[in-house]
Amino acid sequence: MTDGGLLSDPERFTQVRSPLGRARGLPAECYTDPGFRAAELSRVFAASWNLVGRLDELPTPGDYRAIHTAFGSVLLLRGEDGVLRAFANTCRHRGTRLAEGAGNAAALVCLRHGWTYGLDGRLTAAPGIAAHGFTPGDYGLTALPTAHWQGFLFIGIEPPAEDPETAFHDLSALLGSHRLGQMVCVHRVERRIACDWKLAVENGVEEYRAGTAPNTTRARLASLGPAYGAMVQDGVGAALAEDAMALPPIPGLSAPGRRASYVAALFPSTILHCTRDCAWWLSAQPDGPGACRVTLGACVPASSATEADFEARIAPYRRRWDAALEADVAIMEKRQAGLSGCGAGGSGAGGPFAPSEILVHRFANWLLDRVLVGSA
Ligand code: FES
Repeated sequence: MTDGGLLSDPERFTQVRSPLGRARGLPAECYTDPGFRAAELSRVFAASWNLVGRLDELPTPGDYRAIHTAFGSVLLLRGEDGVLRAFANTCRHRGTRLAEGAGNAAALVCLRHGWTYGLDGRLTAAPGIAAHGFTPGDYGLTALPTAHWQGFLFIGIEPPAEDPETAFHDLSALLGSHRLGQMVCVHRVERRIACDWKLAVENGVEEYRAGTAPNTTRARLASLGPAYGAMVQDGVGAALAEDAMALPPIPGLSAPGRRASYVAALFPSTILHCTRDCAWWLSAQPDGPGACRVTLGACVPASSATEADFEARIAPYRRRWDAALEADVAIMEKRQAGLSGCGAGGSGAGGPFAPSEILVHRFANWLLDRVLVGSA
């Protein structure tokens, strides 16, 4: 691992480790250093539960989606038994990628030589193969661990023993009346951004922007757990500014929930927003040096999605989500450009935290807890 000494020099991170009032941000090299990035892939993403979407996005046996992750392309596939599984999107014969995009299939057939996989990942046909000792049962797709929380799907390579249900226990209580598990996904876009994945996370929890960015108001810390942090913005309960066509409030939502918005960072790389009528999330996955791929998804109560005028009512939400993403992309790419510039070297760019940047500080330390293991 080539890290120019960054990982093996814990003193570079002493100030990040300090209490918020005395702390400094991550050194600029953390956003550009190849060794640091390699450690993130193996010690953070492969070793975490990564949110990759909603269970209801692939409701029918045979539904599949190929997704980008930090550890390569992953195939999500709903089996005949109704179970949504995750596999490495790689043929077991010579490694050809099996699927692109999303769709529905009776089986997954490799275009190269026709190896065929059932909806449970088992190899069902290997044309022309009669090798001595060949056992099809040994060549099923490589399965990855999965877990669920509130209708969201998580995957990993060697994820923690503590599943999201346990890790987010207190967050489940905070957001209980939002009934996230009973929502349906109504919007999903993906795009590649020219910035390190951490900038997408920091951007999502940077309450310090409030007051300088349009349409933001002060938030306060609502809940902290070992794998998440959540803020609440009181008095800002709606996803849209006053709009006669706004979706109805979430059925059964608590009185405080109707008057507030919640923003939670689900480590490592998902930001979840919950308002009185919907929820949306942004997940980032590394995609090479100085780049990541983000997925923006949104969901609403099933009862809202079945209203006759739903398409007309959801249209302004979609425009808002997409416009906000575009505005954030511009900011994140400028940050990456600055971090890669001549003024960001050494300890540059690791400036102090505002009190309102508590989740940025928390995220930096959560990350270092994992990246630095065994490096010093
Ligand atoms: S690489 Fe897939 S069948 Fe040969």
